[in-house]
Amino acid sequence: MENLEQVLKKRISNFGPISISDFILEANLNPKFGYYNNNLPFGKTNDYLTSPEISQMFGELIALWAIDCWEKMGEPKKFNLVELGPGSGVLMKDFLRVIKLNSKFVEKCNKIFLFEVSPFLKKIQKKNLKNTDNKLLKKVKWIKSLDELSEIPFILIANEFFDALPIKQIQMTRNGWRERMVNYNKEKKNFFISYSNNPTIFQNFLPKKNKSKKIGSIYEIPFNMIIFLESLFKKLKKIKSACLIIDYAKKKIFGNSLKSIKKQKIINPFDMIGKSDISTHVNFNLIKKISKKFNLICNGPINQRNFLIKLGILLRAQILMKNADSRQKKMLENGLDFLINKNKMGQIFNVISISNKKISNFIFLYLLLFLKNLINSLI
Ligand SMILES: C[S@@+](CC[C@H](N)C(=O)[O-])C[C@H]1O[C@@H](n2cnc3c(N)ncnc32)[C@H](O)[C@@H]1O
Repeated sequence: MENLEQVLKKRISNFGPISISDFILEANLNPKFGYYNNNLPFGKTNDYLTSPEISQMFGELIALWAIDCWEKMGEPKKFNLVELGPGSGVLMKDFLRVIKLNSKFVEKCNKIFLFEVSPFLKKIQKKNLKNTDNKLLKKVKWIKSLDELSEIPFILIANEFFDALPIKQIQMTRNGWRERMVNYNKEKKNFFISYSNNPTIFQNFLPKKNKSKKIGSIYEIPFNMIIFLESLFKKLKKIKSACLIIDYAKKKIFGNSLKSIKKQKIINPFDMIGKSDISTHVNFNLIKKISKKFNLICNGPINQRNFLIKLGILLRAQILMKNADSRQKKMLENGLDFLINKNKMGQIFNVISISNKKISNFIFLYLLLFLKNLINSLI
């Protein structure tokens, strides 16, 4: 039976090398063999752990952030919730359990849109959400494009969504900047990186101040993220709405952040194509820059540790510990550590919130007083 490697080999032999962005798109989303269309990536025994998979506290606190955000928006009478790339649906499951405690919020919530392109993950999300409160479940709708959102205020969350989108890469060679392409060597029977023959328009994206001339320097252009954000921010500008983005942050201007993960280990992106998770790091400064273009309010980026602590994760952990047995206590401690330890997800993950400028005092750091009551009322 054919597999994704064979599909790509054939394509490269017939039409020449493919761009890094096409490679990522095929590897993750090829309709038949793509990673997200065949695998459940998340979980301790699977390929990698995302924050909501690590601990229920993550989705719970994001829900509190959303409720606070809705209040700051002036409690719109009708609004939508949106999640981009909901993975296994576990974040939304924890999120919905918490918002249920605020009947006013639930009542005013018009629809809960899950933006998912993988039919395979959509099925898993449906399964994981099936025991949700019926009133809320009726509001859940799957979408494949932001155009499906109606013109009412929305609160959007995206955890580890943008790191899965295709990017372009350019590299400084002896002949100047060239696009990095994926090629196939028939003799050696392996995929390798080659370069476009001609200069590429993507070099126009290079930062003006830091135009590295060093041979071998790599610069990444998250083209799909830019296009996606431009359309999202256009909506944020027009409709009094807000969004929260959490992701693996890119720390250096230059460098190759393309990575592939299998069974919690980083592997060569050309090994196990379609069977491992391909992602890159997200440029938060760029998100901020694009938001300025649309005259939006931008808070952050701050690291995940500070974000979760300010939302009350330590207090929430304490409350959960009270009713936990020793095995559950260990799990809670490990989960908390994984999420906020600076050597684990605490530092490498960043959080940024962007909102319409009519939302006054949109600061997500001063929630504790309000949250304390809600957190206490959770089991
Ligand atoms: C890394 S997972 C995120 C998991 C989830 N948010 C969590 O926190 O556990 C990436 C998600 O984005 C979706 N996705 C990946 N590439 C996409 C693309 N090009 N367009 C839209 N969604 C995509 C995947 O199907 C998956 O649901």
